[in-house]
Amino acid sequence: MASERSDSQSTREVYDAIAEHYGDRHSGISNPYRKLERFVPSAGRYALDVGCGPGRDTLQLAKHFDRVLGLDVSENMVSLARQAAFSPNIEFRRLDILDLDDGPFDFIWANAILHHLNPDELQRCFDVFSKCSSDACSIAITVRTDIKHGFDDEYPGHPRLYFGYSADELAALAENIGCSVTFQEEQKTSRKAWLFVLLSKG
Ligand SMILES: C[S@@+](CC[C@H](N)C(=O)[O-])C[C@H]1O[C@@H](n2cnc3c(N)ncnc32)[C@H](O)[C@@H]1O
Repeated sequence: MASERSDSQSTREVYDAIAEHYGDRHSGISNPYRKLERFVPSAGRYALDVGCGPGRDTLQLAKHFDRVLGLDVSENMVSLARQAAFSPNIEFRRLDILDLDDGPFDFIWANAILHHLNPDELQRCFDVFSKCSSDACSIAITVRTDIKHGFDDEYPGHPRLYFGYSADELAALAENIGCSVTFQEEQKTSRKAWLFVLLSKG
């Protein structure tokens, strides 16, 4: 394993470096969005796309909500999103999710980001979700589960650090903030394993 790191500063550096390549490889609607689309409210006031990357799902959320905030810790991802995913009701912000103070959000979309937070950061992230969400908020999460704690090699020279969380671990965190799991599914591809979870308040 390469040198240990778990802070979003380093994750930010990695995503800044690979942003363009990532954006080229991941355009159009994401597979998790297609899987979880039925849970996206048909209309609402304010939605959050956490770790929005190039903004592909932010653009989809903008069709349902009056306003959408796409936030990402990587400046280069946010620049890409501003070019690739324009809609007058979207605001993109370069921000660490742990520093967010906004809302209340009616829907939170977190695709392929929470596995980059270490356990302490994940706990704090759920506290942010709790503080920033409306009473009827639901939270859609997709995480990779095949790397339990380590780096990938998908982008040579830019290893990304993962913390593989299980459905039970996410459910326990959800319970602490008054949410329950209303949908969960796992999916394996030839190279990766994914967990899809929908949390609902109340
Ligand atoms: C695998 S990409 C997923 C991007 C997008 N959700 C998508 O599906 O295309 C993970 C994104 O999370 C962002 N990210 C990682 N840690 C973050 C943090 N602490 N706060 C905000 N964004 C973060 C990264 O910069 C990166 O753009």
